[in-house]
Amino acid sequence: MFLKNTWYCAMWSPDLGDAPVAKTLLDTPVVLWREAGGAPVALEDRCCHRSLPLSLGKVIGHRMQCGYHGLEFDRTGACVRVPGQAHVPPGARVRSFPVVDRWNVIWIWMGDPAEADPAAIPALFWLKDPGWAAVRGTIPMKAHFQLLVDNLLDFTHVSYLHSRTISGDAAIESRIIGQATREENAVRFDRWMLNIPPPPMFKAAGEFKGHVDRWQLARWTPPSTVVLDIGCADAGTGAPEGDRRRGISIWSTHLITPSTERATYYNWCYARNFRLDDAAATDLLQKGGHQTFTEDTEAIEIQQANLDRSAGAPLVDINIDNAPLQARRMYARLLEAERATAGPARAAE
Ligand code: FES
Ligand SMILES: [Fe+2]
Repeated sequence: MFLKNTWYCAMWSPDLGDAPVAKTLLDTPVVLWREAGGAPVALEDRCCHRSLPLSLGKVIGHRMQCGYHGLEFDRTGACVRVPGQAHVPPGARVRSFPVVDRWNVIWIWMGDPAEADPAAIPALFWLKDPGWAAVRGTIPMKAHFQLLVDNLLDFTHVSYLHSRTISGDAAIESRIIGQATREENAVRFDRWMLNIPPPPMFKAAGEFKGHVDRWQLARWTPPSTVVLDIGCADAGTGAPEGDRRRGISIWSTHLITPSTERATYYNWCYARNFRLDDAAATDLLQKGGHQTFTEDTEAIEIQQANLDRSAGAPLVDINIDNAPLQARRMYARLLEAERATAGPARAAE
């Protein structure tokens, strides 16, 4: 079960062209493409004639033509042409989904279309802003999406799981736990390391004079968006008090989309506000991001398999689990609330 009445990242916008793309989102097969003029379209990926996936067909102007017997569908999902006959049978349609192209993301609404309000799309301007340079990717992961939310709300694992990539000084990092805070519709997890040597990636990019104040600020908003503000400033220049003009930041953005109970699309983006035109920095972050987040997904897939193998076996909680557990509780409440409101409507059908 997944939260349905909310916006999800279907895919990165630059990855979508006029060729059909098949995705399974929230247990539902979906086909996406751009119609003539560039607007994105999303339909259920199942022809209403004999169930061939529409993604095997082809886009013709404003229509999708099924690759089996040639039925054509418009962006609303209505069948508008049946080859060889003048009459389109009543009820010949497939489900369509609201989609919005914003912040370099194709957002999709898998729930009740009447409730799809584009104003509720998370405000992630840095994903497409001239003041930021972004690299991005999508990693398919064979695990439940919440294991990845757990992972991103816990910085301690960086010292161990990422000792070959982004980890700084494990002796410093592992003894600083951080602070979890629950907001009305978010969970934050903030961690500061003051007056420490800069970690390798920031040392190379930041031209720091000596020690730095380093921050790692995570914010989860339901169902599965995690933004990490990660940065460094010259030590003692006011960063912890809010003045980060002497620092550099990477806003590491994670748009996690459930595919099935055991599959997830991990859409990640590193946006930086320094060295915007530096191709070497772009390359470093592109490769570094992919490598780092592959380390996470590989571990999580093995974790998921082990959890499934030992279902019901007790697990202990430790301090670092505070933020992930709060996020899980908030998500469970939202899921329960959605189920409760969907109940009477379903009963009336
Ligand atoms: S299955 Fe699509 S046209 Fe027949
Ligand atoms: Fe990680």
